[in-house]
Amino acid sequence: MAETATAQDHGPLDPRVFRDVAGRFATGIAVVTMVTEAGAKLGVTVNSFNTVSLDPPLVLFSLRNEASCYEAFTTAGAYAVNILAADQVEVSRAFARFAGDGWAVTPHQVSARGCPVFDGALAVFECVPWQRYEGGDHVIMVGRVVRATAPRNGEPLMYYCGAYHNAIVKA
Ligand SMILES: Cc1cc2nc3c(=O)[nH]c(=O)nc-3n(C[C@H](O)[C@H](O)[C@H](O)COP(=O)(O)O)c2cc1C
Repeated sequence: MAETATAQDHGPLDPRVFRDVAGRFATGIAVVTMVTEAGAKLGVTVNSFNTVSLDPPLVLFSLRNEASCYEAFTTAGAYAVNILAADQVEVSRAFARFAGDGWAVTPHQVSARGCPVFDGALAVFECVPWQRYEGGDHVIMVGRVVRATAPRNGEPLMYYCGAYHNAIVKA
């Protein structure tokens, strides 16, 4: 077993060990977007996206309490979750940087509901806020999906052990 997999069973959990072990759960990558009342477009890269409920249709992501966009997303009237394709690594990187200009490298439209929707996304969930839950140093944002689209087909961008991957091995 690799050294990073041996988390302690007593005492405080080493955050680095927790991070490394958690990183073995492969995820997709999404950019959550919104437009502020002042008209500014915001986007944040997340890998904490998941579906929650079919009826009603609910999805979630968790947002760092210290994120610069925390206030905007926790008070947003609507937001979109853009699921990235394998050729969108630069998009993911751009929206993971403070004040990074992802908009310049990401063709997009603003939907009727006022959410930036990426032309190159594999899937887009437009959401209105459903509930927020305190989750330690993150807030868990649950949204009700009001529109779900699949702008194009392709392979997903994946994240595993702290690195981007794009290979799908079918079982
Ligand atoms: C692969 C990846 C996944 C991420 N997932 C999350 C996430 O689920 N929640 C979150 O709050 N930040 C996540 N981040 C970090 C944010 O993208 C980053 O902190 C944010 O864009 C910059 O925030 P700042 O303006 O507060 O510095 C992730 C970053 C990367 C590269």
